[in-house]
Amino acid sequence: MRAAHLVLTLTSVISFTCTHAKIGYFWHITDFHYDPLYTSKGDTRRHCRRADERGSSGHHRTVGRFGDFACDSPLELIESAAKHMRTRHAENVEFVLWTGDITVARSTTELERYQAIRNMTELLSRTFSSHFVFPVLGHLDPAPSENLTNLWMHWLPLEALQTFKIGGYYTIEQSHSKLRIVALNTNLFSGRDASSPAAGKQWAWLSAVLEKAQDNNEMVYIVGHAPPGPAARPGHRAYSPEDNARYLRTVRRFARGIAGQFFGHLHEDTFRIVYDNDQPVSWALLAPSVSPYAGPASATNPRLRLYKFDTNTGKVLDYTQYSLDLTAANRAGTAEWVTEYNMTTHYALPDISPASLHALADRLRYAPHETMTFNKYLRAYHSGSSEACDGACAHQHYCAITCLEHLSYRQCVEAAASALAAAGDSAPLVAPLNNIVLTLIVLLAICLEKYLHCVMH
Ligand SMILES: *[C@@H]1O[C@H](CO)[C@@H](O)[C@H](O)[C@H]1NC(C)=O
Ligand SMILES: *[C@@H]1O[C@H](CO)[C@@H](O)[C@H](O)[C@H]1NC(C)=O
Ligand SMILES: *[C@@H]1O[C@H](CO)[C@@H](O)[C@H](O)[C@H]1NC(C)=O
Repeated sequence: MRAAHLVLTLTSVISFTCTHAKIGYFWHITDFHYDPLYTSKGDTRRHCRRADERGSSGHHRTVGRFGDFACDSPLELIESAAKHMRTRHAENVEFVLWTGDITVARSTTELERYQAIRNMTELLSRTFSSHFVFPVLGHLDPAPSENLTNLWMHWLPLEALQTFKIGGYYTIEQSHSKLRIVALNTNLFSGRDASSPAAGKQWAWLSAVLEKAQDNNEMVYIVGHAPPGPAARPGHRAYSPEDNARYLRTVRRFARGIAGQFFGHLHEDTFRIVYDNDQPVSWALLAPSVSPYAGPASATNPRLRLYKFDTNTGKVLDYTQYSLDLTAANRAGTAEWVTEYNMTTHYALPDISPASLHALADRLRYAPHETMTFNKYLRAYHSGSSEACDGACAHQHYCAITCLEHLSYRQCVEAAASALAAAGDSAPLVAPLNNIVLTLIVLLAICLEKYLHCVMH
């Protein structure tokens, strides 16, 4: 009796020590858009490349050595990012997620792109000499090949290399924890590739991997280049509506075992929530780009993200985002990366869970007393740019975060548009708003929402 009791106490002590949270870190870096032809003597009308003699007429402003908001990244910018990462938490970093669009496709051959990727791989291998980097392919990267597989051989185990070579996807088990990384080739979710045999294979593989993880009580990180949800901007590449719906169904089915989804592609800092019967069940965090280019009418300071997590459970605890003030760096001739914010303190979150992010999304809606939260979100969304965002724009952000199905997104945006039209308002939300107008908008939006279910079943 006594002995049994002792054994019981001992086991509980041991299991307590075993499950005690161990803190680890991992980097999420994305969208380098490395352009080997960038030059500070370049022309912004030619992507900061040297103008050829024929066309070099007229004026052009000088571009900085660390980059320009109109262009893809020079080597010096990416080297400065690597240097900054070396100085942070080197001893506790467990791995690195590298989510694609490594280089640019513009007027370069397959071989040149391969060489650019090889140089970036060498840079990261030097930066993280004792860590594994888990790369995924973006839409600007070449298709999976023998050469690419050889390039990343030192980071991926044999089994992962086999699926990577045929389809650009793989899974990795973190040896000392119950955490599994599932790296997707999201290029296979859109365009012509969506109907290729490789796409069908990836879907079958994904279900099998998630099922097996569930059986083994493993927690899973899903990692990919492009996030689910409708295109954030017109012309922006997104999953096909069918693949988008299929992806969301898959996430709902395995939500309990998915500890997080990590994507890049948009170049902006934002997040997504997956709902099941109106309940938030999973989140995706979208890391902003190293590249300062964020579309023809947009700009963003280069950024890097360091996640803090419980290595036993995979639970994401927080992240610190680092940014480079590009204008200041170019002026000073030296790149000072600084802490931009920590997720939990920035938004006053108790934790990073689907429920907490759902509550945050609610705060980003039209609530007059929460304008401050929206402004914080917007500042982080495209760091270093003061683009205005009016009421309709603010609501679009809310819809993009909470409505990942194409139909629900459209309904969500239309509901806001009619509410705004009814209120006859287009004043920027960031400016002080007439409180009466704002209250009216809120009331109308709430009424409309009663009719239009934004959140999916
Ligand atoms: C693949 O690698 C071989 C050997 O290094 C090289 O000759 C070939 O051009 C490469 N192909 C591509 C598409 O990069
Ligand atoms: C890659 O690095 C080598 C050696 O530094 C350099 O000669 C070459 O121009 C680089 N190529 C690209 C595409 O970055
Ligand atoms: C942000 O998080 C990092 C890493 O956990 C920590 O060292 C730092 O003190 C935090 N900063 C703030 C302002 O909370």
